Amino acid sequence: MDLELSAEEKSLLERIKSDMAAIGNDRGKLIPILQLVQQKFAYLPAEAIHLVADHLAISSSEVYGVATFYNQFRFNPPGRNPVKVCLGTACHVKGGDIILENFERKLEIKEGGTTPDREFSVDRVACVGCCALAPVIAVGETIHGHMLPSKVEGLVLRTRLEKEMQEREQQKNEPTE
Ligand code: FES
Repeated sequence: MDLELSAEEKSLLERIKSDMAAIGNDRGKLIPILQLVQQKFAYLPAEAIHLVADHLAISSSEVYGVATFYNQFRFNPPGRNPVKVCLGTACHVKGGDIILENFERKLEIKEGGTTPDREFSVDRVACVGCCALAPVIAVGETIHGHMLPSKVEGLVLRTRLEKEMQEREQQKNEPTE
């Protein structure tokens, strides 16, 4: 699913054009250009892929083909609450894959995807270094150890509620005219 670019991302796209011009249009520059795009956007938007293809005079599918070969590139924006499910050995044997499935089902996205409101993204990661707490997930910077599939729904709801409460607080504190 392609998510719409924000106004900020649209202006970033304009800046990418001039950055690419400075790098040059040799085909060998494809990876450095993709790294630049990923660095600016934190992912590779479809619009940027087309721009890169035009710049290097190659097809968009060729750009996709190269980008998908490397797992350093992602094709969806990270959510404001990026969920990382550890599937290292210790977490895998303790049911990490079932936890991942539950997030996918609850958020209605697949691994590597982002919810349409960009609140959540879900990715699998290798060992995050706290195997004694397996199975482990991270939501943003917060690690949740001894995670259970049955806790997934509550965690998603709590994160959404916290966001709503923050928004209400902000509205209350905004000066009224
Ligand atoms: S395998 Fe998950 S923290 Fe090590």
